Amino acid sequence: MGQSPLKGIALNWPFRKEAYEAFCAEVWPVIDAIPGYLHRLEAFFLYQTARTLQPARSVDQPPANSVVEIGSYKGRSTAAIGLGLRRNASGPWRLYCVDHFFQNQGEPGLKEAFLANVQRAGLEGVVTCLPEASSEAVKRWPVERGIAMLWIDGNHDEAFVRDDFQLWKRFVVPGGVVAFDDWYLLGVRRVILDDLFPDPTFQDLAVIDHNLIAATKVDTLPTREQNARKRRIYWTLRTGSLNPWRAGVVMAGEWVNRPFGHVGRFFTDRLPLQRITNDRR
Ligand SMILES: C[S@@+](CC[C@H](N)C(=O)[O-])C[C@H]1O[C@@H](n2cnc3c(N)ncnc32)[C@H](O)[C@@H]1O
Repeated sequence: MGQSPLKGIALNWPFRKEAYEAFCAEVWPVIDAIPGYLHRLEAFFLYQTARTLQPARSVDQPPANSVVEIGSYKGRSTAAIGLGLRRNASGPWRLYCVDHFFQNQGEPGLKEAFLANVQRAGLEGVVTCLPEASSEAVKRWPVERGIAMLWIDGNHDEAFVRDDFQLWKRFVVPGGVVAFDDWYLLGVRRVILDDLFPDPTFQDLAVIDHNLIAATKVDTLPTREQNARKRRIYWTLRTGSLNPWRAGVVMAGEWVNRPFGHVGRFFTDRLPLQRITNDRR
């Protein structure tokens, strides 16, 4: 285990320096040749997770060897996950990429660019493109096709993120991973705080920088340590601080704010703004 170069907060994820260096030298150049919205540490997380996924098996279920990406754009994160899956020995794996390709009010040629990039990265044998809205694609998802990893990076508005999580999560098998991009955005963060955290079937959270949050699905009751870790990450996200003292101050501030709405507004509401405006006329 090496010194992690992750900035901000990075909790609970085994970072291996040698693996990161090998990734930077061999894999990152292929991913970075594709335009899109994914930085190197996120790409490493996706790659490494995909590379080490194990298909869950039980007597009455087929192996879960599917990965779903919601929001592919031109295939940057597709390449990170797909290249990881290609090196995962416990395959064969299939990466389903769900995107209606209407980014930026219908950027022309988006789907074609995506397909060309998948081909350039040598991933046609791994990737299946589902060119439709995620809320439509999920209706046709076969119930027996377990998902080992769900990557949510579509529309970042709260209602869409909530649908992406709530509609797809039931297909994720125990031991599978759900990861969200851009948790610093309000819509994504609301779903993480209001939907992911209270759900006891998601544990062992990993926070990569100010961008990515992942959790593992479990089918056992959470231990006290897991609950404590989850609470700690919850307050870190809510207060933006790993420092318990600072977090305490922010929380106290929130508590004080509650009766008045917002302390700032409480005072400014009492400023004679109307009079100032009148004076200026
Ligand atoms: C932030 S981009 C994805 C970036 C990509 N993962 C990358 O690594 O560059 C969001 C993508 O989600 C797609 N999208 C937005 N809303 C969607 C929805 N409801 N269903 C499916 N795809 C959606 C857009 O067309 C766009 O390509």
